[in-house]
Amino acid sequence: MNKQKKIVSMFDEIAPTYDVANRVLSFGVDKSWRKKACDKTFKIYGKKDVDLILDVACGTGDMCEYWLKRGSHNDVKVHKVTGVDPSVGMLEVAKKKHIDASFLEGEAKNLPANSESVDIVSISYGLRNVVDRVEGLNEFNRVLKKGGILTILEFTKLENATLMSKIRDFYMKKILPLVGGLLSKNYEAYNYLPNSIENFLTREKLIKELKEAGFEIEFVKGFSMDISTLFIARKI
Ligand SMILES: C[S@@+](CC[C@H](N)C(=O)[O-])C[C@H]1O[C@@H](n2cnc3c(N)ncnc32)[C@H](O)[C@@H]1O
Repeated sequence: MNKQKKIVSMFDEIAPTYDVANRVLSFGVDKSWRKKACDKTFKIYGKKDVDLILDVACGTGDMCEYWLKRGSHNDVKVHKVTGVDPSVGMLEVAKKKHIDASFLEGEAKNLPANSESVDIVSISYGLRNVVDRVEGLNEFNRVLKKGGILTILEFTKLENATLMSKIRDFYMKKILPLVGGLLSKNYEAYNYLPNSIENFLTREKLIKELKEAGFEIEFVKGFSMDISTLFIARKI
């Protein structure tokens, strides 16, 4: 099995316990990170009518739900939200939640969307799992309308070892695999998480890749002492 298939099959396995593990492991703080990502994106995009939001690596559909909720809150008419993910297991959980969104099987590098048809592409805690990341970023650019927005929430690799980064690393490497493993009965999957962050990009390197893929950076902000970072970029 190739690396990408292994990652997807791991998400298939943990899908039934994914939401519970997420809430426990983030102490529910991920909700505020998602909310802030949606609100800031709507503010930067500035349009009150949004035809299509495509949430890539949608998993169990949390971000799709937030786009709809925060759209109403921000007085933005969101006509359609579509979640895309290659994991059938994660999509099954998403579909059972009765979110007012469509869910499609698909990969970041080959999205089921026409060129220049999407207002906002989002990917939350998914980009680390996309093996062909550069192809993925180019694909996001292809489907976005000119001036459209790419919103990324991600755990990036921390450049310098500060006290905070050491605490985060201790939590991610020691506590999280244990608790996530207990909840999901899949210790391998929750060991994968800290390793995937370690092998991912720093903030600066991701910004460079975004620019190379044809985006200009609108906003970058770390949340909760830089545990999670929000990137908002615009298709030039
Ligand atoms: C950590 S989960 C994040 C799910 C969701 N976005 C959230 O915020 O909870 C990562 C997701 O990335 C998906 N994924 C893995 N490889 C992918 C790829 N090449 N393209 C798109 N999604 C992918 C997995 O199936 C999984 O659902």
